[in-house]
Amino acid sequence: MTSIFDQFEQRETGFDDVDKTSISGAFPEYLERMATDLAAVKRSMHGLLQARPGQRILDVGCGTGVDVLAIAELVSPDGWAVGMDNSQVMVDAARGQAAERGLPAEFTVGDAHELAFPDATFDTARTERVLQHVADPSRVVAELLRVTKPGGRVLAADLDHGMWAPDATDRETTRTVLARWFDYIANPWIARQVPGLFRSAGVEDIQVTVLPVIMTDLEAADAMTGLGRAAKLIAAEGSITAEQAQAWDDDLRSRQADGSFFMCGAMLVTHGRVPA
Ligand SMILES: C[S@@+](CC[C@H](N)C(=O)[O-])C[C@H]1O[C@@H](n2cnc3c(N)ncnc32)[C@H](O)[C@@H]1O
Repeated sequence: MTSIFDQFEQRETGFDDVDKTSISGAFPEYLERMATDLAAVKRSMHGLLQARPGQRILDVGCGTGVDVLAIAELVSPDGWAVGMDNSQVMVDAARGQAAERGLPAEFTVGDAHELAFPDATFDTARTERVLQHVADPSRVVAELLRVTKPGGRVLAADLDHGMWAPDATDRETTRTVLARWFDYIANPWIARQVPGLFRSAGVEDIQVTVLPVIMTDLEAADAMTGLGRAAKLIAAEGSITAEQAQAWDDDLRSRQADGSFFMCGAMLVTHGRVPA
């Protein structure tokens, strides 16, 4: 296995424990690509943090630290942005970028289910595209609250993998592929479940901001979701025929060739306040 994209063929993401995969070194580059494709969505999310100079802000499951560095600019000169991730490979990549930019940011390796920070350490804690991969999302939400100061803000964002909508000619095959494909992700519907998790955890003033993810390039859609290989693998499981899968793939490719490929999805950003 040489590419992150091949990971989709195994019907698993590898994001629950990147360092244990045989291609861990490929993940940072993949996340940087995703950060570029999601740049506008990320900018909107940073606005929702309401970050101010002087604040301490935590990013749980920070990956290569792209958001931590953006947040460090918002809280500098006397604030601090902290990223944590359970992958040493990710944290090494993040530290390298932070050192180059000289920003007030630090990174640590740990498990989101058991954050190694005292209670009420941060003004704000965020997590993005992480809860979809973890074993116990409610535990991670509880930890986000624990390490945030009373009155501080918590934010959890995820793509809702039940909301991807590619245009395609064969609607029936499209419905089958989409219904089955995203089960390779541990918690594909977590984005729509987080508001309930926040409510149960006692978060106040909960709001859900829906940010559109528009994809007009098949290669980019495949990179983000594995769409370009989904039909073939669903056919191998027997839900559609090989002929249907081939026709579906051909349809997507011809849309790509004539410039009409279109898929939209949604980043659901749930945010609120820790009780004072
Ligand atoms: C899809 S990536 C998102 C990274 C980053 N938030 C971003 O938006 O670019 C998921 C990240 O969560 C990390 N992760 C997965 N399970 C974790 C856990 N239990 N504790 C901490 N980090 C975890 C992965 O190593 C990976 O960096």
